[in-house]
Amino acid sequence: MSLSIMILNGPNLNLLGTREPDIYGHDTLAAIARDLDTHAASVDVELRHFQANGEGQLIDAIQDAMQWADGVVFNPGGYTHTSVAIRDAVAGSGLPVVEAHLSNVHAREPFRHTSLLSAVCVGVVGGFGRDSYFMALDGLIKHIQSAS
Ligand code: DQA
Repeated sequence: MSLSIMILNGPNLNLLGTREPDIYGHDTLAAIARDLDTHAASVDVELRHFQANGEGQLIDAIQDAMQWADGVVFNPGGYTHTSVAIRDAVAGSGLPVVEAHLSNVHAREPFRHTSLLSAVCVGVVGGFGRDSYFMALDGLIKHIQSAS
């Protein structure tokens, strides 16, 4: 089965590679996206990548994905911990969404321990650096395939 999946990244993730590399690693978002594309193609999955720093842009991307995507891997960045509006967009989309984080948010500052999104996602992956995206993608593909 051929699937279409959106890889959605929130604020400041465009700075990966130079942003706090001790926490987020040295890979750029473009390098991660390229390797995700290679992996996805090997299992007949098409990826579309989108990154935005604004809450409204991310909500628009989720609403747009309702027209074409089978699911979403989403690193909401700092909005994870603050955004009711993005949570509502995920819940309202009806799409299976996997929340992904490079860092283990539960091992960091207390304000990162709460996610407003996890309860409306099918799963959460965090703490494995760039591998979190690959694990989230594989989990999402299995979830979609088992549900269909
Ligand atoms: C992050 C964790 C968030 O707390 C932080 O605000 C980010 C990145 C992660 O991938 O580990 O921007 O989502």
